[in-house]
Amino acid sequence: MANLRLAVFASHEGTNLQALIDAQKEGRLLAEIVCVISNNSNSGALRRAKAANIPAYHISDKMFVSNDDYVKALIDILDKHNANLIILAGYMKMIPIEIIRKYKNHILNIHPALLPKYGGKGMFGLNVHKAVIEAGDKVSGATVHIVNEEYDKGRILNQVQVEVLPDDTPETLAARILPFEHKLYAETINKIAKKEIILE
Ligand code: GRF
Repeated sequence: MANLRLAVFASHEGTNLQALIDAQKEGRLLAEIVCVISNNSNSGALRRAKAANIPAYHISDKMFVSNDDYVKALIDILDKHNANLIILAGYMKMIPIEIIRKYKNHILNIHPALLPKYGGKGMFGLNVHKAVIEAGDKVSGATVHIVNEEYDKGRILNQVQVEVLPDDTPETLAARILPFEHKLYAETINKIAKKEIILE
């Protein structure tokens, strides 16, 4: 693949986006963040993108009369910025199937657990950490994987393990894992850039 041009999709706080912005600023990211898209007009992600002078777009399916118009709006942005890798960083909407097909094997997601465990529909945010604690697991972590047509089922590209402590709550476990996510995403993108991970 040519130089990596990242379109980051994020719905909420955007700390994973921020970690990528910081890595780029500090010359630690072998890729360029070319645009940020959020379905949430009030997201920290859009604020962070604007603060870093990265083109930032609020696009929600609710803004369009038809699904075709919605998909076209997304594709127009991706094409305008020549994005060749989509990075989901806490993006809470399903990516339209047309985009999953167009960007086959070139959409990544980060999940705050060790997939294939604790993935699938409904497994997001604190639900994931709650399930890990209830199962009594001693180790959790984070996973970067390829997005395909099924939630959290695409090929696993990279993982990091994080200890679960006996007195962990879903909140403390989430907070301990998050900084590991931040490192893992940049590391995985760099491995793709260096062809240590091949996406096709
Ligand atoms: C992260 O825990 C990520 O794994 C999950 O959503 C959270 C996003 O956090 N998919 P942030 O918006 O990047 O701070």
